Amino acid sequence: MILEKNILYLGLKAGGAPVMWQRIFLTALPKIKELVPPGSHVLEVGYGDGLLTCWLCKNLGWNMLGLDMSQECFLSAKENSCRLGIENSADFICCNPEETWKHIGQYDAVFIKTVLYNAKNIEEYNKWLKWIISVLKPGGVLINFETGRANSFMQAYRKIRKRIYTDLCLYNKVVERLYDTCFYIVDRRYYGGWSQFLSRIPFFYYLAYSLEENMRVRHADNCFAVSIIAQKPWN
Ligand SMILES: C[S@@+](CC[C@H](N)C(=O)[O-])C[C@H]1O[C@@H](n2cnc3c(N)ncnc32)[C@H](O)[C@@H]1O
Repeated sequence: MILEKNILYLGLKAGGAPVMWQRIFLTALPKIKELVPPGSHVLEVGYGDGLLTCWLCKNLGWNMLGLDMSQECFLSAKENSCRLGIENSADFICCNPEETWKHIGQYDAVFIKTVLYNAKNIEEYNKWLKWIISVLKPGGVLINFETGRANSFMQAYRKIRKRIYTDLCLYNKVVERLYDTCFYIVDRRYYGGWSQFLSRIPFFYYLAYSLEENMRVRHADNCFAVSIIAQKPWN
Protein backbone atom coordinates (compact mmCIF):
# COMPACT_ATOMS: atom_id res chain seq x y z
CA MET A 1 0.00 0.00 0.00
CA ILE A 2 1.29 3.43 -0.94
CA LEU A 3 1.37 5.84 2.01
CA GLU A 4 0.36 9.31 0.98
CA LYS A 5 3.34 11.02 2.63
CA ASN A 6 5.63 8.86 0.53
CA ILE A 7 4.01 9.59 -2.82
CA LEU A 8 6.33 12.45 -3.68
CA TYR A 9 9.43 10.44 -2.76
CA LEU A 10 8.19 7.40 -4.69
CA GLY A 11 7.19 9.57 -7.65
CA LEU A 12 10.68 11.03 -7.80
CA LYS A 13 12.33 7.67 -7.21
CA ALA A 14 11.47 6.27 -10.63
CA GLY A 15 14.25 8.19 -12.37
CA GLY A 16 16.88 7.33 -9.71
CA ALA A 17 18.56 9.66 -7.13
CA PRO A 18 15.28 10.57 -5.37
CA VAL A 19 17.00 12.60 -2.63
CA MET A 20 18.61 14.80 -5.26
CA TRP A 21 15.38 15.17 -7.25
CA GLN A 22 13.41 15.89 -4.10
CA ARG A 23 15.75 18.75 -3.28
CA ILE A 24 15.50 20.10 -6.84
CA PHE A 25 11.72 19.74 -6.90
CA LEU A 26 11.10 21.30 -3.48
CA THR A 27 13.37 24.25 -4.32
CA ALA A 28 11.28 24.97 -7.42
CA LEU A 29 7.94 24.36 -5.71
CA PRO A 30 7.22 27.89 -4.32
CA LYS A 31 7.65 29.45 -7.78
CA ILE A 32 5.58 26.67 -9.37
CA LYS A 33 2.75 27.30 -6.88
CA GLU A 34 2.91 31.04 -7.53
CA LEU A 35 2.66 30.69 -11.31
CA VAL A 36 0.33 27.70 -11.63
CA PRO A 37 -2.54 28.07 -9.13
CA PRO A 38 -5.09 25.41 -8.10
CA GLY A 39 -7.62 24.63 -10.83
CA SER A 40 -5.02 25.05 -13.61
CA HIS A 41 -5.11 22.68 -16.57
CA VAL A 42 -1.71 21.09 -16.91
CA LEU A 43 -0.38 18.77 -19.59
CA GLU A 44 2.33 16.31 -18.59
CA VAL A 45 4.61 14.59 -21.07
CA GLY A 46 6.11 11.25 -20.00
CA TYR A 47 4.25 10.60 -16.74
CA GLY A 48 6.02 7.27 -16.03
CA ASP A 49 4.24 5.50 -13.17
CA GLY A 50 2.00 8.57 -12.65
CA LEU A 51 2.80 8.92 -8.95
CA LEU A 52 4.27 12.39 -9.34
CA THR A 53 1.18 13.36 -11.37
CA CYS A 54 -1.02 12.15 -8.51
CA TRP A 55 1.01 14.15 -5.99
CA LEU A 56 0.72 17.31 -8.12
CA CYS A 57 -3.06 16.95 -8.55
CA LYS A 58 -3.64 16.20 -4.89
CA ASN A 59 -1.31 18.81 -3.40
CA LEU A 60 -1.44 21.64 -5.92
CA GLY A 61 -5.08 21.21 -7.00
CA TRP A 62 -4.22 20.86 -10.70
CA ASN A 63 -6.25 19.06 -13.34
CA MET A 64 -3.77 17.05 -15.36
CA LEU A 65 -3.69 15.16 -18.61
CA GLY A 66 -0.66 12.95 -19.15
CA LEU A 67 0.78 11.64 -22.42
CA ASP A 68 3.18 8.71 -22.43
CA MET A 69 4.18 6.28 -25.15
CA SER A 70 4.51 3.29 -22.82
CA GLN A 71 1.54 0.96 -22.33
CA GLU A 72 3.12 -0.34 -19.12
CA CYS A 73 3.32 3.23 -17.75
CA PHE A 74 -0.29 3.85 -18.80
CA LEU A 75 -1.52 0.82 -16.84
CA SER A 76 0.45 1.64 -13.70
CA ALA A 77 -0.50 5.35 -13.82
CA LYS A 78 -4.19 4.43 -14.14
CA GLU A 79 -3.89 1.98 -11.28
CA ASN A 80 -2.03 4.49 -9.07
CA SER A 81 -4.56 7.27 -9.73
CA CYS A 82 -7.48 4.98 -8.86
CA ARG A 83 -5.76 3.70 -5.75
CA LEU A 84 -5.05 7.26 -4.59
CA GLY A 85 -8.53 8.54 -5.52
CA ILE A 86 -7.19 11.05 -8.07
CA GLU A 87 -9.00 9.69 -11.13
CA ASN A 88 -11.22 12.79 -11.40
CA SER A 89 -8.30 15.20 -11.68
CA ALA A 90 -5.67 13.08 -13.45
CA ASP A 91 -6.25 11.51 -16.84
CA PHE A 92 -3.69 9.49 -18.77
CA ILE A 93 -3.31 8.73 -22.45
CA CYS A 94 -0.97 6.22 -24.06
CA CYS A 95 0.18 7.45 -27.47
CA ASN A 96 3.19 7.16 -29.75
CA PRO A 97 5.60 10.13 -30.15
CA GLU A 98 3.99 11.25 -33.42
CA GLU A 99 0.58 11.35 -31.73
CA THR A 100 2.09 13.37 -28.87
CA TRP A 101 3.19 16.03 -31.33
CA LYS A 102 -0.29 16.10 -32.87
CA HIS A 103 -1.90 16.81 -29.50
CA ILE A 104 -3.39 20.30 -29.47
CA GLY A 105 -4.60 22.48 -26.60
CA GLN A 106 -4.34 25.75 -24.70
CA TYR A 107 -2.94 24.62 -21.34
CA ASP A 108 -2.06 26.80 -18.37
CA ALA A 109 1.13 24.81 -17.94
CA VAL A 110 3.17 21.90 -19.26
CA PHE A 111 4.98 19.72 -16.73
CA ILE A 112 7.88 17.47 -17.72
CA LYS A 113 10.48 15.53 -15.80
CA THR A 114 13.42 13.82 -17.48
CA VAL A 115 11.86 13.20 -20.88
CA LEU A 116 13.10 15.68 -23.48
CA TYR A 117 16.72 14.50 -23.34
CA ASN A 118 15.44 11.42 -25.19
CA ALA A 119 15.51 13.61 -28.31
CA LYS A 120 17.88 12.06 -30.85
CA ASN A 121 19.38 15.38 -31.91
CA ILE A 122 19.08 19.11 -31.41
CA GLU A 123 16.54 19.46 -34.23
CA GLU A 124 14.23 17.00 -32.47
CA TYR A 125 14.68 18.86 -29.17
CA ASN A 126 13.72 22.07 -30.95
CA LYS A 127 10.62 20.32 -32.34
CA TRP A 128 9.63 19.44 -28.76
CA LEU A 129 9.95 23.04 -27.59
CA LYS A 130 7.99 24.38 -30.57
CA TRP A 131 5.23 21.86 -29.87
CA ILE A 132 5.17 22.80 -26.15
CA ILE A 133 4.79 26.47 -27.13
CA SER A 134 1.89 25.47 -29.40
CA VAL A 135 -0.07 23.78 -26.58
CA LEU A 136 0.44 26.58 -24.02
CA LYS A 137 -1.84 29.57 -23.81
CA PRO A 138 -0.12 33.01 -23.92
CA GLY A 139 1.75 33.46 -20.65
CA GLY A 140 1.47 29.68 -20.03
CA VAL A 141 4.21 28.06 -17.98
CA LEU A 142 6.67 25.30 -18.81
CA ILE A 143 8.04 23.41 -15.79
CA ASN A 144 10.83 21.10 -16.81
CA PHE A 145 13.24 19.04 -14.74
CA GLU A 146 15.96 17.77 -17.01
CA THR A 147 19.12 15.68 -16.92
CA GLY A 148 22.28 17.59 -17.77
CA ARG A 149 25.25 16.49 -19.92
CA ALA A 150 27.41 17.19 -16.81
CA ASN A 151 31.16 17.59 -16.54
CA SER A 152 33.70 15.55 -18.50
CA PHE A 153 34.33 13.20 -15.55
CA MET A 154 30.62 12.36 -15.40
CA GLN A 155 30.46 11.93 -19.17
CA ALA A 156 33.34 9.43 -19.02
CA TYR A 157 31.69 7.64 -16.08
CA ARG A 158 28.43 7.28 -18.00
CA LYS A 159 30.23 5.90 -21.03
CA ILE A 160 32.10 3.34 -18.90
CA ARG A 161 28.81 2.33 -17.22
CA LYS A 162 27.25 2.10 -20.71
CA ARG A 163 24.37 4.39 -19.85
CA ILE A 164 22.16 4.28 -22.94
CA TYR A 165 21.28 7.96 -22.74
CA THR A 166 24.91 9.16 -22.79
CA ASP A 167 24.77 10.43 -26.37
CA LEU A 168 21.23 11.73 -26.36
CA CYS A 169 20.32 15.42 -26.10
CA LEU A 170 21.28 15.95 -22.47
CA TYR A 171 20.98 19.55 -21.32
CA ASN A 172 23.92 21.77 -22.21
CA LYS A 173 24.53 25.27 -23.56
CA VAL A 174 23.35 24.35 -27.05
CA VAL A 175 20.04 23.04 -25.69
CA GLU A 176 19.81 26.02 -23.37
CA ARG A 177 19.92 28.44 -26.30
CA LEU A 178 16.78 26.78 -27.70
CA TYR A 179 14.89 27.55 -24.49
CA ASP A 180 16.14 31.13 -24.57
CA THR A 181 14.80 31.69 -28.08
CA CYS A 182 11.33 30.20 -27.35
CA PHE A 183 10.59 31.24 -23.75
CA TYR A 184 10.91 33.94 -21.16
CA ILE A 185 12.95 32.20 -18.42
CA VAL A 186 11.46 32.80 -14.97
CA ASP A 187 13.75 30.58 -12.92
CA ARG A 188 16.60 28.28 -13.92
CA ARG A 189 18.81 26.38 -11.51
CA TYR A 190 21.70 24.02 -12.10
CA TYR A 191 22.52 21.10 -9.82
CA GLY A 192 25.21 18.57 -9.19
CA GLY A 193 28.86 18.02 -9.92
CA TRP A 194 29.78 15.01 -7.84
CA SER A 195 27.29 15.32 -4.94
CA GLN A 196 24.78 13.14 -6.85
CA PHE A 197 27.07 10.13 -6.31
CA LEU A 198 26.19 10.38 -2.62
CA SER A 199 22.44 10.74 -3.06
CA ARG A 200 21.81 7.26 -1.63
CA ILE A 201 23.06 8.57 1.73
CA PRO A 202 21.06 11.76 2.39
CA PHE A 203 23.35 13.13 5.14
CA PHE A 204 26.46 12.92 2.97
CA TYR A 205 24.56 14.14 -0.07
CA TYR A 206 23.46 17.33 1.70
CA LEU A 207 26.95 17.86 3.08
CA ALA A 208 28.55 17.38 -0.34
CA TYR A 209 25.91 19.57 -1.96
CA SER A 210 26.61 22.45 0.44
CA LEU A 211 30.37 22.19 -0.12
CA GLU A 212 29.90 21.97 -3.85
CA GLU A 213 27.60 24.96 -3.89
CA ASN A 214 30.32 27.12 -2.32
CA MET A 215 33.19 25.74 -4.32
CA ARG A 216 32.25 25.71 -7.97
CA VAL A 217 30.08 27.50 -10.41
CA ARG A 218 27.49 25.34 -12.11
CA HIS A 219 26.21 26.15 -15.55
CA ALA A 220 24.49 24.51 -18.49
CA ASP A 221 27.66 22.75 -19.62
CA ASN A 222 28.62 21.09 -16.34
CA CYS A 223 25.35 20.50 -14.47
CA PHE A 224 24.04 17.02 -13.68
CA ALA A 225 20.45 18.26 -13.54
CA VAL A 226 18.60 21.48 -14.23
CA SER A 227 15.20 22.90 -13.31
CA ILE A 228 13.60 25.34 -15.70
CA ILE A 229 10.48 27.41 -15.12
CA ALA A 230 9.69 29.36 -18.24
CA GLN A 231 6.79 31.31 -19.70
CA LYS A 232 5.42 31.48 -23.20
CA PRO A 233 5.49 35.13 -24.31
CA TRP A 234 2.14 36.93 -24.03
CA ASN A 235 2.22 38.01 -27.68
C1 LIG B 1 12.91 8.70 -17.79
S1 LIG B 1 11.18 8.39 -17.84
C2 LIG B 1 10.59 9.68 -16.75
C3 LIG B 1 9.24 9.36 -16.20
C4 LIG B 1 8.73 10.36 -15.16
N1 LIG B 1 8.57 11.68 -15.74
C5 LIG B 1 9.69 10.40 -13.99
O1 LIG B 1 10.47 11.34 -13.87
O2 LIG B 1 9.68 9.46 -13.20
C6 LIG B 1 10.71 9.02 -19.43
C7 LIG B 1 9.24 8.78 -19.73
O3 LIG B 1 8.88 9.49 -20.92
C8 LIG B 1 8.15 8.65 -21.79
N2 LIG B 1 8.42 9.16 -23.15
C9 LIG B 1 9.60 9.21 -23.78
N3 LIG B 1 9.45 9.75 -25.01
C10 LIG B 1 8.13 10.05 -25.14
C11 LIG B 1 7.35 10.62 -26.18
N4 LIG B 1 7.91 11.00 -27.32
N5 LIG B 1 6.03 10.79 -25.99
C12 LIG B 1 5.46 10.40 -24.83
N6 LIG B 1 6.15 9.85 -23.81
C13 LIG B 1 7.48 9.68 -23.96
C14 LIG B 1 8.66 7.25 -21.49
O4 LIG B 1 7.74 6.25 -21.84
C15 LIG B 1 8.89 7.33 -19.98
O5 LIG B 1 7.73 7.00 -19.26
